[in-house]
Amino acid sequence: MTTASEPDWREANRAMWDERVPIHAASAFYDHEAFLAGKDTVAGFQADEVGDVTGKSLVHLQCHMGQDTLSWARRGAARVVGLDFSEPAVEVARGLAAGLGFAPERAAFTAADVYDAREALGGEVFDVVYTGIGALCWLPDIERWAEVASSLVAPGGFLYLAEFHPLSNVLDWNTGTRFERDYLGREPVVLDEPGTYVDFRAETERNLSYEWNHAIGAVVSALAAHGLRLEFLHEFDWTLFQQFGTLERDGEAYRQPEGTPKAPLMYTLKASRT
Ligand SMILES: C[S@@+](CC[C@H](N)C(=O)[O-])C[C@H]1O[C@@H](n2cnc3c(N)ncnc32)[C@H](O)[C@@H]1O
Repeated sequence: MTTASEPDWREANRAMWDERVPIHAASAFYDHEAFLAGKDTVAGFQADEVGDVTGKSLVHLQCHMGQDTLSWARRGAARVVGLDFSEPAVEVARGLAAGLGFAPERAAFTAADVYDAREALGGEVFDVVYTGIGALCWLPDIERWAEVASSLVAPGGFLYLAEFHPLSNVLDWNTGTRFERDYLGREPVVLDEPGTYVDFRAETERNLSYEWNHAIGAVVSALAAHGLRLEFLHEFDWTLFQQFGTLERDGEAYRQPEGTPKAPLMYTLKASRT
């Protein structure tokens, strides 16, 4: 069993992310050139489920380099704010916002830990709180996350989360059909591996990271405990990357081949403040 004190996980994870930002910014995966030329990174299931954001305010927690944040702005959100604890990521996001011609009042980026978001954002509340796609796994305490995230939802607003499914995270990497860890386990997964998902061979030095798996029940219950009402919880048998060796690409989606027992690989939820 491995335990991680708060400064340990935060410092390790932030150093790991900081080092990867320039690699990501230069990568074909994030393709900033195509993004600046108009690529919409939230098109598809996320845009369909969130609906029309025209005129709304939106905060994106753990925004990384801000492409999804800025995609919501391009879709008509009146004001978007991205928050991430990686200063280099926030700097890249500000550069992209400027490149798209968004003034800071329209698209702002703040460097802060997600647990400090309420104070870092000066108590501002938003019509839409958006997060996910590899966000919750970096946080040890889902209750604390829900308390902060729900506090950012304006009356009549909602939180939308699109995330890799916690059940998929405990399956074997070859076939995605066998349990390798406890679904309800609370201990962090501690990795010390070079590279990144955009380039597994990238030479990196800050490789220690801490991740946690948050069961669906824990996420939903934490949001409900902080005053949000669940509108939907959708589970999908496809994902956005080659999570298991057996997955077959089908457009933007990766799926198990026919005949393989299928676990849920992603989920989305919408929870409103009435
Ligand atoms: C996988 S990325 C999110 C990906 C994003 N959806 C995208 O594709 O651009 C995870 C982000 O979470 C941020 N992060 C991790 N732990 C955090 C924390 N405690 N507070 C704020 N940001 C955090 C990292 O800096 C990183 O940018």
